[in-house]
Amino acid sequence: MSSMNLIPVSTSDYRRLAKKRLPRNLFDYIDGGSYNETTLAANVQDFEKLRMKQSVLRDVENIDTTAQCLGETFSMPLGLAPIGLAGMMSRRAEVQAVKAAEKSGIPFCLSTVSICSLEEVAKAATKPFWFQLYMMRDRSYVKELLARAKAAGCKTLVFTVDLTVVGARYRDARNGMAGRLSTFAKFRAALEYPTHPKWLLDVAIKGKPHLFGNLEKLVPSARSLADFKDWVDSQFDPTCTWKDIEWLRSIWDGDLIIKGVLSPEDAKEAVASGADAIVVSNHGGRQLDGVSSSINMTPRIRDVVGDKTMIIMDGGVRSGQDIVKAVANGADFTLIGRAWIWALAARGQDGLEALLATFKSEMDVSMALTGVTNIANITSGVLDQY
Ligand SMILES: Cc1cc2nc3c(=O)[nH]c(=O)nc-3n(C[C@H](O)[C@H](O)[C@H](O)COP(=O)(O)O)c2cc1C
Repeated sequence: MSSMNLIPVSTSDYRRLAKKRLPRNLFDYIDGGSYNETTLAANVQDFEKLRMKQSVLRDVENIDTTAQCLGETFSMPLGLAPIGLAGMMSRRAEVQAVKAAEKSGIPFCLSTVSICSLEEVAKAATKPFWFQLYMMRDRSYVKELLARAKAAGCKTLVFTVDLTVVGARYRDARNGMAGRLSTFAKFRAALEYPTHPKWLLDVAIKGKPHLFGNLEKLVPSARSLADFKDWVDSQFDPTCTWKDIEWLRSIWDGDLIIKGVLSPEDAKEAVASGADAIVVSNHGGRQLDGVSSSINMTPRIRDVVGDKTMIIMDGGVRSGQDIVKAVANGADFTLIGRAWIWALAARGQDGLEALLATFKSEMDVSMALTGVTNIANITSGVLDQY
């Protein structure tokens, strides 16, 4: 089918449309992973390798996909992962995303390095949303940020622990997103803008201001990504240890989720540190290339933490079938990163809502045909173990 006539249905359709809509450096920033992108590929391929077991004649008229997460009920075990710079992909993207998430009955997590500020998102939200934190050397700023998050109504803090140093992303380096550009590269990047007129109008012109809404005092503009990278390199704190969780606990009285746990040993530490939930994640294959996929690590982590700890997983979730597979592999809940920003970049809030409706109906069908009617019944038995 010609892509001109494409009616987007699946995540990969939205990816294709996002690729057309966005300047190359921005598309590559979303799409890419670190180094040779082997972990990025494994995240997706290891989901594809899992087979479900078809089970028939089990009265599956009433399918219930609702799931609990930290005391709240959501329409399915899925949330929108924090995505930095989302507002450069679609006009005020974080505001569109929180609205789409609320309409679809799922949680939205705002990144520390978002374009829209906590306050701008809070204005658009009618319920509490989640806030993601990167630990900065300037602890007084962290304290100030958490006070802002609380004032914005956030009750759940997602503390990301796998970006104390930044994995090299070759695509970003080639596009000048991760360093200084030569004059020729600057000229080539500038040519991308007029050749992507829809993005130019929607984001570059109507989507201002292009600031890091939560960091405007620290980083003056989101347009110089080289300056931003310098700031990240100097401010993100590699001295952080499990002890800092105690400090976080002393200044944050809401729920605390630790994101970026990938080994059983770290999962045990996270539980011991008092985390309310963990996110099994390798940052979507953007940090340490060569580590295992999140879906492969999920059952091993479930084995060591037991049933009481809430396990959220992300990395490679591209469909409702993947959500069922993740739950069957021991996850309680999942997050999507690229899928939501591709949909939003391609077709805005409507596109994201349509994609989330697709995920929900894919879950309905997958559950019906594996013979289960609610999330609690999705066990390893729905996977083909032969
Ligand atoms: C473009 C992009 C930006 C991201 N920014 C952040 C961020 O600011 N904070 C964070 O904790 N994780 C960030 N992540 C990681 C996601 O939250 C999530 O872990 C990952 O995207 C999941 O993999 P998936 O894209 O295959 O769904 C980012 C991921 C992408 C693709």
